[in-house]
Formats: sequence, structure tokens, C-alpha cells
Amino acid sequence: MTISFHLNGERVDLPPGTAPTTTLLDWLRETRGLTGTKEGCNEGDCGACTVMITDPGGADRVKALNACILFLPQLHGKSVRTVEGMAGPDGRLHPVQQAMIDHHGSQCGFCTPGFIASMVAGHLRGETDHDDILAGNLCRCTGYAPIVRAARAVEGAEVPDWIRDPDPRVDPIAMAPETADELAEWYAAHPDATLIGGATDVGLWVTKQLRRLDEVAFLGRCRDLRRIDTSDPETIRVGAAVTMAELLPVLQTHYPSYAAMVRRYGSEQVRQAATIGGNIANGSPIGDNPPALIALGATLHLRRSGDRRAIPLEDFFLEYGRQDRAPGEFVEAVSFPKAAQRLACYKLSKRFDQDISAVLGCFNLTVEHGTVTQARIAFGGMAGIPKRATAVETALIGQPWDAGAPDRAAEAFAQDFAPMSDMRASAGYRLTAARNMLRRYWAEGTGTATNVREVAP
Ligand SMILES: Cc1cc2nc3c(=O)[nH]c(=O)nc-3n(C[C@H](O)[C@H](O)[C@H](O)COP(=O)(O)OP(=O)(O)OC[C@H]3O[C@@H](n4cnc5c(N)ncnc54)[C@H](O)[C@@H]3O)c2cc1C
Ligand code: FES
Ligand code: FES
Repeated sequence: MTISFHLNGERVDLPPGTAPTTTLLDWLRETRGLTGTKEGCNEGDCGACTVMITDPGGADRVKALNACILFLPQLHGKSVRTVEGMAGPDGRLHPVQQAMIDHHGSQCGFCTPGFIASMVAGHLRGETDHDDILAGNLCRCTGYAPIVRAARAVEGAEVPDWIRDPDPRVDPIAMAPETADELAEWYAAHPDATLIGGATDVGLWVTKQLRRLDEVAFLGRCRDLRRIDTSDPETIRVGAAVTMAELLPVLQTHYPSYAAMVRRYGSEQVRQAATIGGNIANGSPIGDNPPALIALGATLHLRRSGDRRAIPLEDFFLEYGRQDRAPGEFVEAVSFPKAAQRLACYKLSKRFDQDISAVLGCFNLTVEHGTVTQARIAFGGMAGIPKRATAVETALIGQPWDAGAPDRAAEAFAQDFAPMSDMRASAGYRLTAARNMLRRYWAEGTGTATNVREVAP
């Protein structure tokens, strides 16, 4: 069973027995001597280890990913370019590299290989939102202005031929099933194994908690788990292995507020790896998708071997660290209504980009003739699980939706939630913020502009 991929244009076939949780970063630096790719945080936060991956099977073929939380089997059938592989075979620099020199985009240089990888990937995709492309790359000394100037200078510059890799043809490997059927059969027989979607959580178990994972299965090659089905007039069905980057355009069409929240989900590198199934299955009380999906009335599709069941997403989260999932059962998909609803998602975090939510509030009210007739409200960061605000909903339903409505429902928040204090926020702050989100929802509904990045006197 050989893991095969292209590295800087050359095919690599790893020796059988390579540990499946070896990270690309460790392998590059320790086995291949490619030390251009740097280790900063080793947890996906700083972007010093960013490399460019071309994925023939992915909807979004060219990705910048963090090598520190990327396991070698995730590269099977893909192409990797590190900073050592960005210049041409004759030594000519990639236009992005030349622009970084011309615009003084590097001082100590520690962050520079990661920036180059993000910028080359963005350039290859023809994207020009440089704030977005570079939000996952941290620079401590140069400052971003010269780097962004360099990125702007090469907008529209021709993509050099050498940077386009051919698709590596590979044989299937047992630890990376190609279909949900294969996965279902294997997982039912190996219920203690760890499933790995994008490894943006599991990667940290290995790099930070030094956990040994003996049996693993990677979901990234399961074609049917990577599908977004919008063909039904009523429902959108998203396969568990769909990444946040792949989901974003669909959300932009149907739920712009949800999409704006996902735009702040980690960074480009995280969104290109993180899957929706991983974000639900990890049961985190501060995962960003569950509150939005619960507010939409989403259904979770679970599967064990040939047995399938569908449950309301909110019923999946039982208590902190415990979900309604049997051994050998996995998340196959999540589905939610397509109809335009008044969904608004408000993510509150200490940093605007690349930060975990302190509180995430998602609101979906139906108002008829000035009266609230239906309400679905869900929060992250307010309890041990993503949780519906049923007392707040009850306080609103049947009542007029007017300027006083958020105040009349304010007391109910304390019936729904007794949040904890931690480094992200105190309990009191969380409750106040949650109440204020309902006020914001009202204000936005009246056409009042709200901007969380501006402080009004
Ligand atoms: C730098 C950084 C920033 C982040 N920012 C955010 C953020 O802004 N918002 C946010 O919500 N999260 C954030 N995260 C957390 C993480 O990215 C998300 O939770 C992500 O969606 C997890 O998906 P994954 O595919 O990487 O999961 P993995 O790490 O592959 O798996 C996570 C868990 O889910 C299980 N699992 C995966 N797929 C399935 C399946 N189909 N069925 C059953 N079990 C499964 C795994 O076994 C594991 O227990 C961040 C992480 C990092 C490192
Ligand atoms: S080393 Fe910081 S993101 Fe990988
Ligand atoms: S150039 Fe020193 S950290 Fe960016």
C-alpha cells in the first residue's frame, strides 16, 4: 500500500509502513531536508508551514494548506509545491517571489516561505482579495503593507508553466476509501478507528497532545461524501467531507449571513481543509456550523454499515463531549432547507479573522403581519453544546416583532443558558452579548446598518 504524490514536480512513492500520522511538515524537514517550509506554532495558526497543494479530485483544485496539520496519506494523488519548488527549473523566480523582493516584502524571512505559498496559490486561482488570502499568514516584522503591495503587483501576471503540475495517477489505498460504501463497511468492522476529514482538529491531537492513533481512515477521497447536492427544489444536501471553502459559494447564494460568518472561519488554509462533517462530529460547543444549521432546522444523516438514520441536528449534541453516535457510525451528510429564510449569524471573537468564536448567535424568525410566528435561535459558546434558545423562542412567538421585542425576551436568555467564564469571555459578557445579538437582529431587520468593526459613540 503506497502513498504517492508529486513533490515539486517529481513523483514520490512513500515506503510501505510510513506512519499515517506523520505530518507533511515533519517529513519535509526531517526526511527530505526541505527546511524552507518553517515550523512556527505547529497547530495551524501562523501559516509559516504553508504549502501549495493541487488536488485533482477537489472542487477547488489549488489550495494553500498548513503542512503542520496535514498527514501524509492526505496527499495521496495530489501535488505538493513547497517554497523550494516555486522557481522555474532554470532558476527563474516565480513572479510572486520577484515581487516580494521588489516591494521589500521580507525582513527576517521566517514567515516568507509560507506567504509565498499562499500568494502563489492565490495567483494561480486568479484571486485578488489579498486580505482574505493572507489572513492565515502571520508576519511579525515586515508588516503587511509591502506584502500586499507585492501581491497586487502581480495581479494578472502570466502564470508560469512550471507551476502547473500534472495529476499524479495513483492506486487506491486501504486507509483512504473511495466511496461511502467502502468507508461504511470498513468502519463497522473497525469501530475504534479514528476518522479523519481535514485533520484541523485531529492534527492537533498528534502535534500538541502527542496522541498515538493506531487505526485511521481518511475521508478526503470518498467521492460521494464530497458532494453538494442542490438539485432538490427544497433542500440542500452537503456531504460530510465537503470543506468549508467548497461550501462557501453555495452559502453565498442562499444564506449570505452564514457565508459572511464562514468567511471568518479560521483562515484560507483552515477552510480549505476543514470539513463540515468534522465540525459537527467533533461535538465542540464552539464549532461555527452547528448553531447556523440548527437555526435552519438542519437534518443530520448518520450511517453505520448499511443502516442509515436521519435526526434533527440539535438532537445529536447530548452533553459536553457526548453525541448521539454509535460505535462504527459516521456522519454521512447534513441537509437543510433551500428556501430563503431570514437567517442571520453573528460571530463574536477577539480577533476578526482566524479566531474561534466566544459567542456565535444564529437567528431565524418568521414574522407575519408584525407578529413572530416561528422562531429558531441557536448559540455556540453559551453552553457545553451548541444549543437552541427555546425559552427565548417561546418568549418571542406570538408576540409583536417591534423595537421592544428584544428587551421583552431578554430575561429568557438566563433560562436557556448559564455560560461559563473562560479566556475568551466571562459568563456575564456572554449573556450580555447574546442579548445584544437579538437587538442587532431587530436593528438589521429595520434596515439599520450595523458594523461590528466600528464603535459608535
Ligand atoms: C487554526 C484553526 C482555526 C480554526 N478556526 C475555526 C473556526 O473559526 N470555527 C470553527 O468552527 N472551527 C475552527 N477550527 C476547528 C476545526 O477547523 C473545525 O472544527 C473543522 O471543521 C474540523 O473539521 P476537520 O475535517 O478538520 O475534522 P477532523 O480534524 O478531521 O476531525 C474532527 C473530529 O471529527 C471526527 N470526524 C470527522 N469526520 C467525521 C465523519 N464524517 N463522521 C464521524 N466523525 C467524523 C474525527 O474523528 C474527529 O473526532 C479551527 C482549527 C484550527 C486549527
Ligand atoms: S506551523 Fe503555524 S500553521 Fe503550521
Ligand atoms: S519577515 Fe519576519 S516574520 Fe515576517
